[in-house]
Amino acid sequence: MAKVILSEEQIDEYWSFLQPSRPAMLTTLNKDGTINVAPFGWNMPVSANPPRVSVALVNSPPNRTLTNIRREKEFVLNIPTMQVADKLVQASYQHPSDVSKFSVIGFQRLESRVIQTPGIAECRASLECRLFKEVDVGDHTLILGDVKVVSFEEEDYTKDLTLKIDQAWPVIHLDQYRKNGGQVHSFVKTAGLHNIFVPYNDR
Ligand SMILES: Cc1cc2nc3c(=O)[nH]c(=O)nc-3n(C[C@H](O)[C@H](O)[C@H](O)COP(=O)(O)O)c2cc1C
Repeated sequence: MAKVILSEEQIDEYWSFLQPSRPAMLTTLNKDGTINVAPFGWNMPVSANPPRVSVALVNSPPNRTLTNIRREKEFVLNIPTMQVADKLVQASYQHPSDVSKFSVIGFQRLESRVIQTPGIAECRASLECRLFKEVDVGDHTLILGDVKVVSFEEEDYTKDLTLKIDQAWPVIHLDQYRKNGGQVHSFVKTAGLHNIFVPYNDR
């Protein structure tokens, strides 16, 4: 085993070593009230109490999702299964600014409980979020959202809220690369579970 050092010129690709990502699809409201959707892999929970989530969004120039969140102060973070992986990929490509990507791609809307922005009915879970804070961290802006309501597909989860991966394949995105004048997106297939048992110590 031999470790090598990533060259300084390539240090901006450090994030490759944090792949694969679990992209979520953010829905936001466009200025005309239509719905926008795009996938974001740089997302993670940052607090359980209060419930808060973070997503890093490109800010130079800001993508449509960031512009919409800044205006509307809310978004829905939708957690996909592999059933919608092709639509997730479509949502990552630019569409004309006067069309609703959500409608063009053909997602079904999931009405939200406490915010205006709808979620995606085909996703296994949707987190309704209100903007808590944004932090400029570099070429991305970290959006921190208060999670207000979580709705989820009951059949896809155990009572302990563990995903049943044999019926609801999680979306795990490894890579994207150019090939034959196009782009290939590689997703990791889940191949069952490897459980590790830890006995409680007798006291
Ligand atoms: C799997 C995947 C993950 C992505 N993750 C991010 C991310 O974390 N942050 C980001 O700014 N863009 C990310 N993108 C790119 C955006 O989805 C893309 O720029 C999209 O066009 C933005 O759409 P919008 O302008 O409607 O917001 C990702 C794309 C893919 C395919």
